[in-house]
Amino acid sequence: MSDETNRDRLSSGQRDDLIAAMRRAGSPTAPARPASPPRKWDTSFETLPGYRAMRTQIAVGDFLGLASPFHRLHEGRSGARAEIEGRPCLNFASYDYLGLNGRPEITAAVCEAVARWGTSVSASRLTAGERPAHRDLEKELADLYDAESCLVFVSGHATNVSLIATLMGPKDLIVHDTLAHNSIVVGAELSRAQRRLFPHNDLDALEQILESARSRAERCLVVTEGLFSMDGDGPDLARLVEIKERWGAWLMVDDAHALGVLGPTGRGIAEMAGVDPRRVDIWMGTLSKTLCGCGGYVAGSTALVEYLKYQAPGMVYSVGLPVPIAVASLTALRLMKAEPELVTKLQSNGRLFLDRAGAAGLDTGTSWGASVSPVIVGDSLRTVMLAERLLQRGINAFPIIPPGVPEKSARLRFFLSAAHEAADIETAVAATAEELNGLVDEGVSVTNLSTLLK
Ligand SMILES: Cc1ncc(COP(=O)(O)O)c(C=O)c1O
Repeated sequence: MSDETNRDRLSSGQRDDLIAAMRRAGSPTAPARPASPPRKWDTSFETLPGYRAMRTQIAVGDFLGLASPFHRLHEGRSGARAEIEGRPCLNFASYDYLGLNGRPEITAAVCEAVARWGTSVSASRLTAGERPAHRDLEKELADLYDAESCLVFVSGHATNVSLIATLMGPKDLIVHDTLAHNSIVVGAELSRAQRRLFPHNDLDALEQILESARSRAERCLVVTEGLFSMDGDGPDLARLVEIKERWGAWLMVDDAHALGVLGPTGRGIAEMAGVDPRRVDIWMGTLSKTLCGCGGYVAGSTALVEYLKYQAPGMVYSVGLPVPIAVASLTALRLMKAEPELVTKLQSNGRLFLDRAGAAGLDTGTSWGASVSPVIVGDSLRTVMLAERLLQRGINAFPIIPPGVPEKSARLRFFLSAAHEAADIETAVAATAEELNGLVDEGVSVTNLSTLLK
């Protein structure tokens, strides 16, 4: 079949149906109705530009008969396997890297904690006080990085926002990787510091930015991630440390996806790179991935942690971590340290995925073959259809399309776990290659609204 299919060219009846669906969705791309008299105040949520864009996407998906991959109902615990809308499947969309979620040791410790402490600590730790589990977890997290101190927040996203916005101000400079997580971007924007971006992992470009802008700023923060969850790669940490020291900047590393994943014992990018973790000023991580909980942490100097304890809004004005969650993460952390073979298994699964995908002709970009590898498809429609066809075959891998990733780099992301077996990976890669080739042969390709409406 040629590339120009009924997805690219519509009959006049189909075209009218699509325009009607887009009008119902309030799409700005649909030909306009006759204008109604302007109203002075618009109080409807439906006219928000983001809402309209979202409805347009949904209308187009519905029109093309694509099931939405978002907000699906999972009926069971999500790990290497899942049950999604009644269908058991192999799951490659969980951050439970070491397969610890649901381990009996964690469940037992959590049940005991609920019985003793209940499910809420009621208010901010500043006023409602701390519990032993908060301090134990912070002590063991600080030890991971040889840091003086550590502080846990109730949300990973809020940790980055609060940390960066509290630390930096209008006279300062923040330089971060273009692919930095949204929480880093939001924190940097809120801080009102000058924000500059360097292309993904391009440390020459970082140096150029510092050369041109560092001297005008009072303080400077360089931010990157230990392992990027869209591309499965990371920075050259040794060089980053050398650069930040030369330019008198703080270095912050968000190790959310590297904990439990990189380094012989899963201590993250510093362990993998053989860099003394004390040379990184700010370690950030989340409790929601390897540590099977919910929340975020910052590890660093006593002064940094003390400052955040009293100044960061996400700490001062937000409730403390529930004790059962602190206990879940603490138990998971101890299991990670006690069972380094889980890290070894995860790493071998990551490498196996990369090898098999390469052999099958799939594009895994710059992935290191750790816990996450993309399969870059490029075309958004093809990507969403690929995910749907795989799910029909009992394989769940999540599609990421622009604006989540740059244009023409839509992809499926495969998150690996120590709980996957080699056969799971072989099955998933073979099915992905087969379905993708099928979609290419069928000529399913880029569909954007302007092409459809031609
Ligand atoms: C790199 C990174 N930092 C921070 C966060 C926010 O963490 P959480 O989802 O635990 O709030 C995420 C979320 O996945 C992340 O990928």
